[in-house]
Amino acid sequence: MEKFIGAWTARHGATRDRLLPLLHAMQEDVGYIDDAWVPVIAKALNLSRADVHGVVTFYHDFRRVAPGRHVVKLCRAESCQARGGAAIEAAAAKLLGVAMGDTRADGQVALEPVYCMGLCAIGPNALVDGRPVARIDAAALERIALEVAA
Ligand code: FES
Repeated sequence: MEKFIGAWTARHGATRDRLLPLLHAMQEDVGYIDDAWVPVIAKALNLSRADVHGVVTFYHDFRRVAPGRHVVKLCRAESCQARGGAAIEAAAAKLLGVAMGDTRADGQVALEPVYCMGLCAIGPNALVDGRPVARIDAAALERIALEVAA
């Protein structure tokens, strides 16, 4: 990862304001930000470890462990919650065999929260491997379960 960080900062700069773009690039490249990389990032951008750790843990979108092969995100924001989001979340966890915020033991699927996708009028909504899926109901969950089983 040091090589990746070195190449990235050489190309995009090593100033403090590069932290978020670097974290996004790392997550895009390997899927998560390992805690072991925090000191390397801090040194590269002349930040404290606490600065980097604070940013990684503040934003829900940064994963700190390797994701599942498929990632299902369910919207937990107000409009989707008002449309039955909590029940959908419980059903999804049971159907997919993984608790919210976890990756299933076989690594096949992770279930994660997302906070509003801008599709509030057609919720409850999900993102399946980055693809928006609207009006989630029991049938939609069955289709998602089949999709992520592959
Ligand atoms: S509240 Fe779920 S998409 Fe906006």
